[in-house]
Amino acid sequence: MLIAGNWKMNLKYEDILKFKDILTDLKLDNQVEMAIFPQFPLLYSAKEYLSNYNIEIGAQACSSELKGAFTGDVSVEIISDIGCKYCIVGHSERRMFHNETNGFIKKASNLLLSKNIIPIICVGESEEIKNKKNTNQFIISQINECVPDNISSNLVIAYEPLWAIGTGVIPDYEEIFNVHAVIMNELSYIENLRVIYGGSVNVENCSKIFELNNVHGALIGGSSLKFKDFLAIYKSAVKQII
Ligand code: 13P
Repeated sequence: MLIAGNWKMNLKYEDILKFKDILTDLKLDNQVEMAIFPQFPLLYSAKEYLSNYNIEIGAQACSSELKGAFTGDVSVEIISDIGCKYCIVGHSERRMFHNETNGFIKKASNLLLSKNIIPIICVGESEEIKNKKNTNQFIISQINECVPDNISSNLVIAYEPLWAIGTGVIPDYEEIFNVHAVIMNELSYIENLRVIYGGSVNVENCSKIFELNNVHGALIGGSSLKFKDFLAIYKSAVKQII
C-alpha cells in the first residue's frame, strides 16, 4: 500500500521539521509506504530530514520537456537528483489551471520512467460525467491516452473523482471498488500496478476505503496537512494489512 500526502500549495519549511518531530515513535510497516509531496523548494530539505525515517518524497508535477527555455517549469532531471521516488502527473488541479492534457501526461510519464521515477497518474471524472453514468468509459479513455506505451511495471494510478476533491464527499465504497476494478482490468499487463484512491480521504472514512481489496492506498490532500490525522490514516492502512 502507498499512503501519499499531497501538500499542494500549503505548509512551509518549519512544517517539515514539525512533521519529522512527530515521527519519532512511528514504526513504518514495510508493506505500507508513506510518501509526502511538498512544494518544490521544500523537496530537498524533506529528503534530507525524512529519509532516515524511510519516508519517500515526491514532486507534485513536472515538465514534459527534458530541459531548455521553459521558465518556471521543473525538469525530471532535478526531481531525480533530489531523490524523489514518485511524481504526481496530471492532477486535476494541474489539468484545470495549467492545461495539462492527456498527451502532456503521457510524455511527462515517459520522461519520469526514463529517470526511474514512478509516475502517479491522476484520473477522475467530473460530476457531470458521473451523473450521465459515463464514468467507466471516461476513465478508460483517460487511461488509454495517459499511460505510456510499452510500460510493464512501476506505475501508480490515482483515482480522484473531481467532485470528491476537497468537498468532504466521497463515492459509495462500491463505486470506488468498481472504478478500481475497471482500471486494473485495463492495465492488467502492468506488473505491481497500484491503484490508489484520492478525494476527501479522512480519519473517519479511510478504514472502509482500505478494506476494499483493490485499493492499494490513498492520495490525501487536506488530511495530510493535519499530521496527526495523516499518521492515523497511515496506521489504519497498516491495520488492513495485518
Ligand atoms: P483532498 O484530500 O483535500 O480532497 O484532496 C485530494 C487530492 O486532490 C489529493 O491529490
